Amino acid sequence: MSESSSNPFEVAYHRERKIRRAAEQLLEDKTRLLHQRNIELSRTNERLIEQQTNMLKQEKLATLGTLAAGVAHEINNPLAFVTSNMSALDDYHNAYHEMFQFVKNMRERLSEDKTADLDVAIKKLDLEYLDHDLPMLMKETMEGLDRVKKIVLSLRNFARSQEGERAYIDINEGINSTLRLIQSEIKRGIELKLELQDGLPKVNCNPSEINQVILNIIVNSAHATKDEQHPLIRIASFAEEKYVCLAIEDNGYGMSQHTIDNLFVPFFTTKPIGEGTGMGMAIVHKIIEDHGGEMHVNSEEGKGSRFTIKLPVSLDHKEQIYTG
Ligand SMILES: Nc1ncnc2c1ncn2[C@@H]1O[C@H](COP(=O)(O)OP(=O)(O)OP(=O)(O)O)[C@@H](O)[C@H]1O
Ligand SMILES: [Mg+2]
Repeated sequence: MSESSSNPFEVAYHRERKIRRAAEQLLEDKTRLLHQRNIELSRTNERLIEQQTNMLKQEKLATLGTLAAGVAHEINNPLAFVTSNMSALDDYHNAYHEMFQFVKNMRERLSEDKTADLDVAIKKLDLEYLDHDLPMLMKETMEGLDRVKKIVLSLRNFARSQEGERAYIDINEGINSTLRLIQSEIKRGIELKLELQDGLPKVNCNPSEINQVILNIIVNSAHATKDEQHPLIRIASFAEEKYVCLAIEDNGYGMSQHTIDNLFVPFFTTKPIGEGTGMGMAIVHKIIEDHGGEMHVNSEEGKGSRFTIKLPVSLDHKEQIYTG
């Protein structure tokens, strides 16, 4: 059957078929477009959910920052007077101890009934035990206060805004000076692999804050590798586009997904009470954020962890380095 046929039924049939094909084609095109749009919409939706989660996390951290500053401030005053009272108590106990020794020495010179009275009084009030136990109680209390002091300091560091002085520093110097500082933590058999790239652009940052970032991460890695047979920490520095990067990697016990998700939450710790405050990584995150940098964490339980930090190199300074 040809389209040029004069048979009106045939003509109508061909016309109808043409229209149907065009309609089918249109439907197919539209369906494809719709499918494409649907994929794009799902992607946008996923991105939105991700952004919303990030925003919530940021908001949570910002609120915690304000809270941390307030708590640190509030605790600091009572902490100061409790510490000072403790050292006064220590002096008072020294006086008490001397007096107690004196009374005991005097005992020999008392009449028999007075000696008995004295012994009863000493026993009743448990003075011997008190004299022996008090220094230990004081020592433990002082240690507890020291821990509270450290927590307050961490909270203050966490809450501190970008008030510190900034300078152009060589990140490799930061790494080396931090390593010198924590030699005692590192020296027990941990192999340290340094892969520091020479001639990196300098980074505009607060040097002591960046050193604290390096310190907190390395100390964590040292803890994580403590049960390894061949503990290894690898520290690398390198340039990547407009960033100077720092990677710290260990072959320690690694992290569960739960730990990774909560890593930057203040006070999150998996360590026993007294061993970790859970503020180390919260501080790291805050500092990197204040510097406009990025931080990436890769970790697998039982295999190890890798922390990558990217600090932006300011363009004006790049020019200074490369042209001047
Ligand atoms: N390199 C690492 N390997 C394995 N787990 C790690 C590592 N770094 C951090 N973590 C996990 O993240 C948790 C939080 O770390 P963070 O440094 O904030 O606190 P912390 O080390 O427990 O206490 P501190 O306040 O003394 O640093 C740790 O308790 C640990 O479970
Ligand atoms: Mg830590």
